Amino acid sequence: MTEPRPRQAAPTPHPCEPGDGDLRLSVWPTAQRDARAQRAGRYLPAATAHPGKMLPAIAATAISRYTQPGDLVADPMCGIGTTLIEAVHLGRDALGVEYEPRWAGLAAAGIAHARRHGATGTGEVVCGDARQLPAIAPASARGKVALIVTSPPYGPSVHGHVRAGAQGVRKFNNRYSHDPVNLAHHGLDALLGGITRILVGCAALLRPGGIVVITARPWRHRSELVDLPSAVIAAGRAAGLTPVERCVALLAGLDGDRLVARPSFFQLDNTRKARARGEPWHLIVHEDLLVLQHRPFPGSSSELKGPQREPGHPSVAPLHRRAAADQADGTRAA
Ligand SMILES: C[S@@+](CC[C@H](N)C(=O)[O-])C[C@H]1O[C@@H](n2cnc3c(N)ncnc32)[C@H](O)[C@@H]1O
Repeated sequence: MTEPRPRQAAPTPHPCEPGDGDLRLSVWPTAQRDARAQRAGRYLPAATAHPGKMLPAIAATAISRYTQPGDLVADPMCGIGTTLIEAVHLGRDALGVEYEPRWAGLAAAGIAHARRHGATGTGEVVCGDARQLPAIAPASARGKVALIVTSPPYGPSVHGHVRAGAQGVRKFNNRYSHDPVNLAHHGLDALLGGITRILVGCAALLRPGGIVVITARPWRHRSELVDLPSAVIAAGRAAGLTPVERCVALLAGLDGDRLVARPSFFQLDNTRKARARGEPWHLIVHEDLLVLQHRPFPGSSSELKGPQREPGHPSVAPLHRRAAADQADGTRAA
């Protein structure tokens, strides 16, 4: 849905520290304020329920760094719309796709909230399967998107909230739905197939030279570290995109030369238990940011090389079902 530009202007604070977006550093200080402080007043309270939100400062830094005011920014797995909300606050226009009607509705409501508080960009949310991106995105967006900022779902081991009760500590809100179209329910190979498919669609939306920023956090499965970032780079190559940068977004604060970790209960608990077993675990306090570029005419020397180059390509998983045309309206989702 597209909203008219608002008259009222009562800006909420930018989630980055002043000037962060101007620095060409590969380590982004994106957690100088914790997630709650970054979202306070800027996001609707109902958005808290989403199990895997991006830190607003990650989206804001990417948008400031790779786009200009008036550009179109998109997120094919937009959740409650962090990318879109930061984009409209920064004077960019925004397009989001989200499969779950609950989150799509909240993303649309979040954009409206941002505009009531002074955001000048316009935003639109489509509820549907992002693997069908060229079919479900507005035709007017084709070849026009300057930047895509997105974070894939990794499943319940990384996402969720905890609550202490009489029966001990309980995890909740750690799954998106029980619908198999949601990529959160897939194993690694199918997840990568879905990501590849979505990136193929992203390439169709991007303008020449347009950028994709994907967050990918390594995670542990049965004590093994799963190198999702390298696999996502391979997915990007399979989709015809060129890896150009690999950055680190800190999930810990920087205090001089110290990192101030803000781990979840389960991260801390799992790490302590592993250490008690004699396994040398450390907390993971960053997300990898994989930066890919749409180069319809290949041949630049700035592509990532050496160890970051991936030899293989992930397979593309078959589609489960086509996105229903009647889902393509975020307004019905709220
Ligand atoms: C890690 S979350 C993204 C959160 C988002 N960056 C935010 O800050 O709210 C991944 C999102 O992808 C959505 N998703 C999963 N499979 C999808 C699909 N096939 N098409 C569109 N969205 C999908 C999930 O429902 C989830 O909201």
